[in-house]
Amino acid sequence: MLVAESLRKSFHVSRPARQVLRGISLTVGHGEFVAVMGASGSGKSTLLHVLGGLERPDSGSVRIQGVDIYSLADGARSAFRRDHIGFVFQFFNLLPALTAAENVALPLRLRNESWLRPRSRRVAQSVIMERVTTLMDQLNLRGLQGHGPDEISGGEQQRIAIARALAAAPSLLLADEPTGNLDWNSGQEVLSMLARLCRAQAQTAVLVTHDAQVAAYADRVLVIRDGEIIDEIEMGRRDDPGKRPDHARLAARLAKLEL
Ligand SMILES: Nc1ncnc2c1ncn2[C@@H]1O[C@H](COP(=O)(O)OP(=O)(O)O)[C@@H](O)[C@H]1O
Ligand SMILES: [Mg+2]
Repeated sequence: MLVAESLRKSFHVSRPARQVLRGISLTVGHGEFVAVMGASGSGKSTLLHVLGGLERPDSGSVRIQGVDIYSLADGARSAFRRDHIGFVFQFFNLLPALTAAENVALPLRLRNESWLRPRSRRVAQSVIMERVTTLMDQLNLRGLQGHGPDEISGGEQQRIAIARALAAAPSLLLADEPTGNLDWNSGQEVLSMLARLCRAQAQTAVLVTHDAQVAAYADRVLVIRDGEIIDEIEMGRRDDPGKRPDHARLAARLAKLEL
């Protein structure tokens, strides 16, 4: 699903230029939920932006469903991103003028309005509404359809952002510190729902975080330090929950790692 090879990236704001990604390779299989865990400044956000087609690496490649995204022209890469990738960020980035349901529906609307999309492939309004309702139910947001982002809690806002990221059924979900702006309880609630939904729908996902409690929801954890992957931990098979240690034990094990 996702294959990244030898990614390197420097920012030339200082001399010598600071190497933020120093040869990162990783593979994420279809339906796999991978966390990248590392200290602040280790290059997590940069890596996620490179994986998601938002920031071109100095060298190396990113293939998503076999497509080498940086070999695409800028316009084609934007279209690919819109059609194949869902993003969730630390700050929920909901549009304040739209209701919760309208925010969730937005990616489907935008996809419909693309000039590249033939009329025959447009999604009907009724299908969009059905998809929005299903996702909002799955994320326990029933009843909030008509509310504006400023009328609901942070945890609810982030669940709406997750529903929005999943609305257009992306091949790949990318999340950057999705609980970074939430209190502990709402963070846990959001993450356990996200993990459950990804597992139920075989959604391929990559999440970056500094937090062992968050990373412990993943199937596999890659540890990043100073722009390199230094460790990889298998967390137990998702399709066999009986073989998966409980969350608290996984988190405790991850918390012992030196970041
Ligand atoms: N656009 C940028 N320009 C210059 N330096 C950057 C930029 N983005 C990130 N950096 C630097 O790269 C390093 C890694 O940043 P980042 O990927 O945001 O790490 P993390 O998300 O793990 O905290 C930091 O030292 C940061 O200052
Ligand atoms: Mg970051």
